[in-house]
Amino acid sequence: MIITVVNQKGGVGKTTTAVNLSAYLAAMGKFVLLLDIDPQANASSGVGLNVAELEKSSYNIFSKEHRADELIFDSFLTTHKVIPSSPHLAGATVELIKDENREFVLNDALLEVKNHFDYIIIDCPPSLDILTLNGLVSADKVLIPVQAEYYALEGLSSLLHTINLVQENLKPSLEILGSVITMYDKRNTLSKEVLNEMYKNFPFRIFRSVIPRNVRLTEAPSFGKTILQYDPKSKGGKAYERLAKEFLAYLNQ
Ligand SMILES: Nc1ncnc2c1ncn2[C@@H]1O[C@H](COP(=O)(O)OP(=O)(O)OP(=O)(O)O)[C@@H](O)[C@H]1O
Ligand SMILES: [Mg+2]
Repeated sequence: MIITVVNQKGGVGKTTTAVNLSAYLAAMGKFVLLLDIDPQANASSGVGLNVAELEKSSYNIFSKEHRADELIFDSFLTTHKVIPSSPHLAGATVELIKDENREFVLNDALLEVKNHFDYIIIDCPPSLDILTLNGLVSADKVLIPVQAEYYALEGLSSLLHTINLVQENLKPSLEILGSVITMYDKRNTLSKEVLNEMYKNFPFRIFRSVIPRNVRLTEAPSFGKTILQYDPKSKGGKAYERLAKEFLAYLNQ
């Protein structure tokens, strides 16, 4: 199953969620591929890859130089694999303009590797560009991280509209898995208000495993580690573990 983590709003916890959800799913025995299609390559460096030195990346999918299975790197668990990104990927947006099949390049490339994994988790850039569109068209389901902050809900309707257009025109089977609330601060009334607003207005599942604001989650990527490796007992680690369990329970029901 391919899950794309998307929100065109920057810094809402997409990468933190993609990295750590994928890590806990792998630790629970699922075969997981973390696929980074953000030119910022934060998910790739977040699992310890030295992005500047990599010779292959998801860019080679979009430039059609390599098959996806040739781009897979080992990670910290045998059940966890990574296709990293690269700053070159920024150029793919322009290179794809003339490609008539441009929204389907990733989808087509993943067909052959899809069955080797229980889950492919795709981390998208903070935009609704052609890379994100490829992420959406490839997906079976979309996971939307929403930061528990004032302007959190702003932009959500244009995201839902885009997903709707993809469903109508490009990928009818695409489903919204739901939303995960990130950076929740229980001492902050604003966080509670955002959660209430989400429950009132968001017409899809909201995972009960809300991710708290936790500094250990910010520190882990600077060591190239997932929270599972860096501090699994932290509030952030436990929250992502709960999210992974809830995710599996929901999808296996
Ligand atoms: N639960 C959390 N608690 C504390 N800090 C967090 C949490 N989640 C994410 N962060 C931090 O917030 C910043 C943005 O998170 P992240 O990179 O995951 O967001 P993003 O949506 O992927 O950003 P971008 O849109 O740039 O790709 C990072 O510095 C990250 O470490
Ligand atoms: Mg990111």
